[in-house]
Amino acid sequence: MSYCAIILAAGKGHRYSKTIPKQYTVFDNELIINYSLKIFSEIKPIKKVILVINKQQFHKFKDQVYKNKKITIINGGMERKDSVFIALSKIKKNNYKKVLIHDAARPFLKKKLIYKIIKFSKKNDAVIPYIASTDTIVFKNQILNRKKVLSIQTPQCFSYRKVFSLHKEFKNKKFNDESSLFFFKNLKVKKILGDYNNIKITLKNDLNNHKQLFYGIGYDIHKLEKNYKLYLGGINIPYSMGTVGHSDGDPVIHALIDSLLGSKKLGDIGTLFPNSKKYKNKRSTFFLKKIINLFEAKNIKINNIDINIITQKPNLKKYKKIISKNLARICNINEKKISVKGKTTDRLGNVGKNKAIACEVITSVSNY
Ligand code: CTP
Ligand code: MG
Repeated sequence: MSYCAIILAAGKGHRYSKTIPKQYTVFDNELIINYSLKIFSEIKPIKKVILVINKQQFHKFKDQVYKNKKITIINGGMERKDSVFIALSKIKKNNYKKVLIHDAARPFLKKKLIYKIIKFSKKNDAVIPYIASTDTIVFKNQILNRKKVLSIQTPQCFSYRKVFSLHKEFKNKKFNDESSLFFFKNLKVKKILGDYNNIKITLKNDLNNHKQLFYGIGYDIHKLEKNYKLYLGGINIPYSMGTVGHSDGDPVIHALIDSLLGSKKLGDIGTLFPNSKKYKNKRSTFFLKKIINLFEAKNIKINNIDINIITQKPNLKKYKKIISKNLARICNINEKKISVKGKTTDRLGNVGKNKAIACEVITSVSNY
């Protein structure tokens, strides 16, 4: 049996964000839309994948959108049902027996569910995945039997001719999805258990519980000498010696930058800001600001930063708070997300002999 998949991605996603359509946001290094495109393209009985987009939105993201020879891209309509109708009309001549209709806003779909739907579609004109409600459901002060209140998911699979003709028949009626058309007519709908993880991204917080965490580590050490200034975390600490470096030799910011870059595999400080004339005697805060701008452009959010500053002298007790405040300001995050700890080495090694100051940092980040 031949299958065609329709991936709906022409919506504005207004309930999710006013700035970026949800299907084009990045989750775990990948556009949301790409999860659906990839998974349907990889399923053998599916011969064609129609991606329905909104032209005005699409041009900005088209280079990042997953490509496969099965995929055809078309422009959608005002409402979800218009987008589906345009896609169904487009494949009129292709003779696909079955059509799978899926919301691109459901990136956690697994192949297992698609195969299960395909299996049931052999003997049914309409197959829909559902999950039962886990909350208590009240309708007009009546508690409903929650096992019987079903949330309907996608993908839904239909016999092409049937769903196309129902679409034409109910052209002027409002409906959410194609299963509704079958319910209107009291036609048989095969309901199968869906997947609780197959959520539709609708509201701003929907991705929060799924957000992927990334970690980066950074380390730096600088020599201490007389006649140099001491900068730690961008703060000038009064002391008889200072750190030697090509820039201002701030080991805290250098380790922090490396941990940030490492979390998303974006290189290291030495590659981005080499020991060239351009960066000679530059303040490290300048480099950190550049990295924060890069993170903001890439929609990377800092979850927390943990810093160990390793010195024998000076004692940093009274500076820890000032340093975390300063770094929070530059990183544009709440101060609660930064921990600054001081550490000595019990007079061991170069740090212990007051010849150097070292710093290690671990950072956790995620995509918005
Ligand atoms: N969709 C579509 N064409 C439309 C409207 C919606 O292809 N004119 C798609 C969406 O891109 C989404 C799916 O249908 O993948 C489900 O719709 P919904 O969750 O309502 O998404 P949006 O309409 O984008 O969101 P909102 O209603 O919050 O604006
Ligand atoms: Mg909508």
